Amino acid sequence: MNNSIKISNLIKPYNKSLNIEGDKSLSIRWALLASQALGKSTSTNLLMSEDVLNTLECLKKLGIKIKFSKNTCEIIGRGINGFIYKKSITLYAGNSGTLGRLLLGFLIHSKSKIILKGDKSLSKRDFLRVIKPLRKFGASIKSNSGKLPIIIKGTNFPKAIKYFEKRGSAQCKSSVMLAALNTKGTTIIKSKRSRNHTELLFKYLKLPIKIIKDKNYDIISIRGTKKIKPLNYKIPSDISSSAFFLVLTALSKNSKIMVKNININPTRIGLLKILKKMGIKINIKNIKIYKGEKIADLIVSSCKKIKPINCPTSLNSAAIDEFLLIFLIAAKANGVSYFKKLSELNQKESPRLLWGSKLLNKIGIKNIVTKDSIKIFGNPHLIVNKKITVNKFLKDHRVFMTSVIAALTFGGSWNIHDKDSINTSFPTFLRKIKFLGGQIR
Ligand code: S3P
Repeated sequence: MNNSIKISNLIKPYNKSLNIEGDKSLSIRWALLASQALGKSTSTNLLMSEDVLNTLECLKKLGIKIKFSKNTCEIIGRGINGFIYKKSITLYAGNSGTLGRLLLGFLIHSKSKIILKGDKSLSKRDFLRVIKPLRKFGASIKSNSGKLPIIIKGTNFPKAIKYFEKRGSAQCKSSVMLAALNTKGTTIIKSKRSRNHTELLFKYLKLPIKIIKDKNYDIISIRGTKKIKPLNYKIPSDISSSAFFLVLTALSKNSKIMVKNININPTRIGLLKILKKMGIKINIKNIKIYKGEKIADLIVSSCKKIKPINCPTSLNSAAIDEFLLIFLIAAKANGVSYFKKLSELNQKESPRLLWGSKLLNKIGIKNIVTKDSIKIFGNPHLIVNKKITVNKFLKDHRVFMTSVIAALTFGGSWNIHDKDSINTSFPTFLRKIKFLGGQIR
């Protein structure tokens, strides 16, 4: 099967509205927590992407019953630590750092040895960041020099721990939070601020969590508990998926888009803040709070004049999955933009800081990249007029989708490989691009 696409036309003006699928972080967290609740939890608008489907498969292998009826997913939880541990279970986290790292949090209680594996990209990523704190609970964990595959065997007598999360990684924080749930005593996490979906779900479920905020850190205390209530949840739509259409519209001519019911949790809206600073107007309408999460409709129009930015590092964590797109915006800015303290970007599905630089080189935008920063020399008159191939990017879904946005807005004749990478987070991405008028062969 041909797994590459060709784009050689700019997108024509459009004025449309889009529904976006459920948020990936929330879909995975809902499924994991539902597996620990006693009884039936349901969700609608669950993201049906490979990362989420792999989550459901892992849970099934751990004895959890899951079914779909119409648009609803039902998970019959077996209570805290209710997984069934058959001999020799191998779990597959696919491409998902969130699934792999969060699930390990529950597995510190496993009664047999469990093997955790991932795809080529995930197998290159650092798991020592969760192995270290999870070992402190008492679990025995063997790894391939801090990477997958991992063999974990839980402990019957976990000890509550104190943990300092310095990276601003929600995955590390959440992994330890899930481990703390079934651990007697109080686990204390001092954590650099990062997306807080797990905290909001804990609060909604009335789990024993306390959070004290200081300037840059949250001090999170979690007492071990015996029971989680089932959770019926309508997953809000994903801001990181919406981001492709917000940026596509900002960079194209005479266009406008509305994306509806988007999760605008303050820990996720770095992109919106950065776009605003760069002169792109975003209209936020119909703000609601749903089970602790903020939701709204977002409207963006084409932007004629983009300003450069010296991006405040305080926005890094809230924009972490959107930087490839932000670099495209900076390519069209009227001056030099600067992004710093971004070493974590190279820890993603592919080394994304490097990929940002590579994509800019391909479209002829001067940039200077270091191991944790990038300077981008924007050109508002940029028109690309050459053949560009994008390949060998470890099937990183966000590299693929960002390349599509660049092709539709900057011009040139593009050949972009590995289109099935979109199944990781956004299987309907290309259908939506076509709906807006994008010509893809
Ligand atoms: C995620 C947290 C972020 C993000 C990832 C999803 C989550 O990773 O990049 O796509 O759902 O917790 P880190 O926590 O490693 O920064």
